[in-house]
Amino acid sequence: MRNKLFLAFLAVILLVLLSHLIYEQLITRDFEDYVNGTKIDKLYWVLASVEGSYADGTWDYTTLHDALHWAVMLGFDVRILDMGGKEVTNAAAVMSMLSPSMKRRMSSIVDLSSATGQFEEYPLYEGGKEIGSLLARRLSRPETDKKEVLFRERGKYFLIVSSVIAGGGALLLALFFALFLSRPLRKMKDAVEAMAKGDLTVRVSGTEGDEIGRLAESFNYMAEALQREDSLRRRLTSNIAHELRTPLAVMKAHTEAMIDGVVSDHAQGLENIRLEVEKLIRLVEGIEDITKAEASFFARLDYAGIDLPEFLSRLASTMVPLAAEKGLEMSTMEREHLRVVTDPEKLERVLQNILSNAIKYTETGWIKLDCGRDKKGFFIEIRDSGMGIPDHTKELVFKRFYRGDTSTGIGLGLAIVKELLEVMGGSIQVDSAEGKGTTFRIWLPDNR
Ligand SMILES: Nc1ncnc2c1ncn2[C@@H]1O[C@H](COP(=O)(O)OP(=O)(O)O)[C@@H](O)[C@H]1O
Ligand SMILES: [Mg+2]
Repeated sequence: MRNKLFLAFLAVILLVLLSHLIYEQLITRDFEDYVNGTKIDKLYWVLASVEGSYADGTWDYTTLHDALHWAVMLGFDVRILDMGGKEVTNAAAVMSMLSPSMKRRMSSIVDLSSATGQFEEYPLYEGGKEIGSLLARRLSRPETDKKEVLFRERGKYFLIVSSVIAGGGALLLALFFALFLSRPLRKMKDAVEAMAKGDLTVRVSGTEGDEIGRLAESFNYMAEALQREDSLRRRLTSNIAHELRTPLAVMKAHTEAMIDGVVSDHAQGLENIRLEVEKLIRLVEGIEDITKAEASFFARLDYAGIDLPEFLSRLASTMVPLAAEKGLEMSTMEREHLRVVTDPEKLERVLQNILSNAIKYTETGWIKLDCGRDKKGFFIEIRDSGMGIPDHTKELVFKRFYRGDTSTGIGLGLAIVKELLEVMGGSIQVDSAEGKGTTFRIWLPDNR
């Protein structure tokens, strides 16, 4: 970025210099043209005056001398030749005829001896007939020359100053852009460094709009995900420690009691220990499950189209034996085809968890499945005629490791359900009346 800006700055400077070079050439040429132009104008005036002093084949020397006098004043050394090439008169001769005071005055303005260049020849005419020629060359005139030099120098000076201003401006602009453009990048860099040091709470703000803004957005999204995963993991770890402690403590107590001979019924003691071991196994399985659910936060969904009623009845049929064991009737409502694009594997795990709860927490009666479409999307409903959930624990059932008083589980099932549904872009709601039954309704987004 900085290099590119530096190159852009260099390009601007080069352009400025180039344009000023061109400009300078043009100005000098124009000035040259102007000086030459005035010189020619003056010369024509002298020519006209000289021609005007010729009449009827002879020169009027008074007017001719005046004309030459003027020519000198205008900065020319001149000679007049007749048709035979013989000199009629010249500037030096005219000047020598002046009074001493006039000579002094003239010499302060022009110096005839300063003329060094070649004479240029201009033909003289009278009434359409050539009468001779005028030879002219420029005199150097210190005052005027000085002014010319001054003008040229001023021009150059002006160009240099404006180049410096333009270049400086370009430099300032480049610096400004370098700082301005690199600020969001620096913000990003700082945030990434902070994150590398372990601060997952960093977010990049104030970089809306362009690519850097989108990069910042992605960064924030990533930070969010990492922070979330981090806190989930922390919570899970502390929950697991807590969950491990109880069975281990119970096992320790039983073992010690047996060793100390406090209990005589070793078979019962071992049975108690076996129950705790089973709990531990279930815990480990649950942890595996929830870890998988978490992992799917970072994995892509495997979308596939399913026919929802068909999917439900197939799934229900796999659970029927389990329900039948408890004498429960499990049924799925007959519904029209309803095509849904979702992640079928995840949906299956969600429904298995809810259905196994329904079977577990229902002693007599039935479990009914239904599905359809409402304004929130596709829905699936699982109703049971079981013990119900007390009002004050309705919000808790989705929390990790929460379980009701009668539960023999580990309290991870509904937490897994909720996390999976979040990943799938869906949601879940529970409706229950204690002693009468429970209804879970889940919604899936329309992914078509
Ligand atoms: N269909 C249901 N009927 C009554 N209570 C339920 C039902 N489903 C879940 N629960 C309550 O919600 C709690 C949390 O459920 P879950 O997360 O699956 O944990 P677990 O089943 O391991 O106890 C259960 O312990 C139970 O008290
Ligand atoms: Mg459960």
